[in-house]
Amino acid sequence: MLTGRNILLGISGGIAAYKTPQLVRLLKKSGADVQVLATTSALKFVSELSLATVSNRPVLTGIFTADTEGEYTRHISLGEWADAFVIAPATANTLARLATGLCDDMLSLCFLTLRPDKPVLIAPAMDGHMYNSLSVQRNLSTLAEEGCRILEPESGSLASGQCGLGRMPEPETIFEALAGMLATPEKSALNGKTVVVTAGPTREKIDGVRFLSNYSSGKMGFAIAADAARRGAVVRLVTGPVNLPTPPGVERIDVESAEQMLAAARPLFDDCDLFIGAAAVADYRPEASVEGKIKKKDAEMEIRLVRNPDILAEFATNRKPGQLAVGFALETAGGIDYARKKLTDKQLDLIAFNIYNGHTSGFEVDTNVLTLLGRDGSVTELPLLSKEKAAAKLLDAVETILPR
Ligand code: C5P
Repeated sequence: MLTGRNILLGISGGIAAYKTPQLVRLLKKSGADVQVLATTSALKFVSELSLATVSNRPVLTGIFTADTEGEYTRHISLGEWADAFVIAPATANTLARLATGLCDDMLSLCFLTLRPDKPVLIAPAMDGHMYNSLSVQRNLSTLAEEGCRILEPESGSLASGQCGLGRMPEPETIFEALAGMLATPEKSALNGKTVVVTAGPTREKIDGVRFLSNYSSGKMGFAIAADAARRGAVVRLVTGPVNLPTPPGVERIDVESAEQMLAAARPLFDDCDLFIGAAAVADYRPEASVEGKIKKKDAEMEIRLVRNPDILAEFATNRKPGQLAVGFALETAGGIDYARKKLTDKQLDLIAFNIYNGHTSGFEVDTNVLTLLGRDGSVTELPLLSKEKAAAKLLDAVETILPR
């Protein structure tokens, strides 16, 4: 899979470092050449000898050891040599140093010499409170904005004995994410196509400080946008308010309300091959939004709601021949027939029926269970998958119906 690829593996000093020889083995087994760049703290958690043995190369740590290794400008040649850079585990300290451009060890130095078109995958791993701290989140946002792909840590038991967010994904997961990033987009039917994705919730203003909305996190739409970009598509992502980094290579337009989402999406309709409506657009909005804050009174209060425009239906019914329209049908109860009805009513090519169960499928969570219904009557039931994998399956299905 990765035959002939050169991978820099940066390891920083967290307990998850003890799993990295396995990651090196997976990379080597798939044909890659791996150069390990470990921080001094990393080598307290994992043996240098293990890493050097499985990678079949000396582990590089400090910046002043080049003479003993026979090359004074090794950091520069490595930046040129590498096809990708993986940093796993990435500690809070390493994230901070990478985000600010410090370069006082081989890991951080090669991060700067890596050619800008090469993908970077960062797997942060640390205690959940540290992970959620403002500084870590700020550094992650900076790195994501610079184009690094952040592999979210998983939840489970932590070194502290506590249970929560912060575990490094297993080496197999990191390997798969990297292999996906290095997959040649030329093979994809989406390569060179223009895709518009809507994502997240919308907010419908009641007054200056209140709104109607829903629990959509935007994760599904962002995963679709990220994967379409990886497949070589030009991706425009129109999103409601979410707390997610922009996927690498994706053009993002932030909006609040359904009307704003339509206003932002409409100019993109003409020049797209595919429109994917993953946004949970509010069906109604308050008829009039009040300036300032509505004052509390003893009497009950009524807010009259009016229908919002249907963005996906507007695209689908006005589109040019050859343009594809794909939607989601999230239901809390009831069956697939609701989704089928939406497929027909909105004149879509494909709809992802999505049961909301509040635990593993639907809003906010990282996983989803989708059934894909095609205009041609096809039904594809997908198992419980991460939203990234569900997005990939959806795009695989789209590729089969996309005009070449
Ligand atoms: O809300 P509903 O179940 O009808 O959503 C089905 C599909 O239509 C989704 O893909 C959603 O993004 C899209 N939609 C839209 N504009 C709306 C309502 C829904 O684009 N106002």
